[in-house]
Amino acid sequence: MAVEKTLSIIKPDAVAKNVIGEINARFEKAGLTLVAMKMVHLDDEKAGGFYAEHKERPFFKDLVAFMTSGPVVVQVLEGENAILANRDLMGATNPKEAAAGTIRADFASSIDANAVHGSDSPASAEREIAYFFGADEIHSR
Ligand code: TYD
Ligand code: MG
Repeated sequence: MAVEKTLSIIKPDAVAKNVIGEINARFEKAGLTLVAMKMVHLDDEKAGGFYAEHKERPFFKDLVAFMTSGPVVVQVLEGENAILANRDLMGATNPKEAAAGTIRADFASSIDANAVHGSDSPASAEREIAYFFGADEIHSR
């Protein structure tokens, strides 16, 4: 196993539900460490650039509108197999398909307002972390 870093976002719906602490407690209980975090209100350009891989998808416009609808918490999680560990804690993209006890099963209301983001591969983790954080803002253990 390898120590990895992954980008996590607590999306506007979860921030509005006042469950930032509950979500982050799950990461900490699972052995992941928060090594960077900030609360930001994304604009269209920042949110659209983040989700550039989905630019041609039919849901892109709604996704950007949702991600800019309120503040988000952008953070870096560090730990053994952090990328996959975070995806397991998050659950499936569609909360209707998310396993019981996952963050999306418990806090997401729909496929578009689905509480959290997590990088899906080492390459996307590297890009996404650099998209939001400078090296001096990441406090690796
Ligand atoms: P995706 O990268 O497929 O999911 P994940 O967040 O699990 O990595 O899609 C990015 C986001 O786009 C997803 O979290 C919510 C939104 N989305 C929709 O609104 N409708 C859809 O059909 C899909 C696939 C995604
Ligand atoms: Mg994704």
